[in-house]
Amino acid sequence: MPHDPLATRARLSEVRYEIRGELARRARELEAQGRELVKLNIGNPGAFGFRAPDHLQRAIADRIHDTDPYTHQQGLPAAREAIAAFHRARGAIDADAERVFVGNGVSELIDISLRALLNPGDEVLLPSPDYPLWSAATILNDGRPVYYRCKVANDFLPDPDEIEALVSSRTRAIVLINPNNPTGATYPRALLERIVRIAEKHGLLLMADEIYDGVLYEDARFQPLAPLAGDVPCLSLGGLSKVHRACGWRVGWGVLSGDARRCAGFQHAMDLLGALRLCANVPGQFAIEAALQGADTIAPLCAPGGRLHEARRAVLDSCAASEHLQLVAPSGALYAFPGVVGDAASGFEDHAFALELLETEGVLVVPGSSFNVPYRNHFRVTLLPEPDVLRDVFARIDRVLQRRATARRAAPVDLATRRAASG
Ligand SMILES: Cc1ncc(COP(=O)(O)O)c(C=O)c1O
Repeated sequence: MPHDPLATRARLSEVRYEIRGELARRARELEAQGRELVKLNIGNPGAFGFRAPDHLQRAIADRIHDTDPYTHQQGLPAAREAIAAFHRARGAIDADAERVFVGNGVSELIDISLRALLNPGDEVLLPSPDYPLWSAATILNDGRPVYYRCKVANDFLPDPDEIEALVSSRTRAIVLINPNNPTGATYPRALLERIVRIAEKHGLLLMADEIYDGVLYEDARFQPLAPLAGDVPCLSLGGLSKVHRACGWRVGWGVLSGDARRCAGFQHAMDLLGALRLCANVPGQFAIEAALQGADTIAPLCAPGGRLHEARRAVLDSCAASEHLQLVAPSGALYAFPGVVGDAASGFEDHAFALELLETEGVLVVPGSSFNVPYRNHFRVTLLPEPDVLRDVFARIDRVLQRRATARRAAPVDLATRRAASG
């Protein structure tokens, strides 16, 4: 092969982000041709009519004249102090503004933190299914994702014994996504305590992606990881994108907790990498104090009568009424991750299904395999549309699955008929 100076980074071939991939591109083509689509691929509240709360918008508008300069690489001191106080109030008693890192969304902090941690060949324990940025960032920072399974049969909860069995001499960190994207699982305290003990025993960093920490349904409770971790090094990630419906502002934060001596090198690396990208977007940082000290605006949306509660109910009811779908009810976050069962599941391939659904019914979903699972019979939808839209979407999904089930049921008969005809 001749040398190609424009050849891209080799490991990019291992990276997928299908939430905005091939299917989303096809959707844009269809829209350009005038098709009206229902796009359920991205958990982007603002695209579904949700707004960031007024008091957050005002907090930015009031300080817009102060947003021209760079801030400190870790973020505005007042914003970091508000984040540390928020974490202390929920039990992380040693949370300190000096160990808070504000980033351009949690996305940037996932990348920076893995870059700070990994040497080539190091392993990161990731959930399967995962939010695929975690896999991508592990790979692009020269690491190796090692997946622990969160099985349907276990309501998508991880098995700590399996996590421990996967620890090797190369393991550096355990990533937890709680509440979980894409499954909606929220992890009980006893389970988290067991995972903390594993990290402690093997000297691993805990990385807790808690961006959906306030998005909870029915009697689900969120248990932050840092208070349980105590001295065990833990990076807790949160932000304004979901709970405060401000994805576009690109505001996320990481809070490092645990034994200061053990964390010092990692803390320094985070600071250095933060300094190299100068600082996070400044306007959004002015909303952080308002968000963390002001009224809880997400709980009413998740409570009975609230838009997200009713949207989730519409999905639960639709899946319960369908002979083709099985759903572990999400107890948190903004998604449902149904599985296809029965005749419709035979020979099912999630990507082909998603394409057929898009082409024939104008609905865009994300195939389950985009979330790094070995099985091919799941898909993800976001709970952000109006409940009636979701009911209509699931009627369309059922239509496609019914067609598939009918074709499957007919297939053996056809074969038998053909055999009879040829015999
Ligand atoms: C689990 C999880 N982590 C991180 C992110 C990224 O969020 P941000 O907008 O803060 O970059 C998302 C976005 O959907 C997510 O679902």
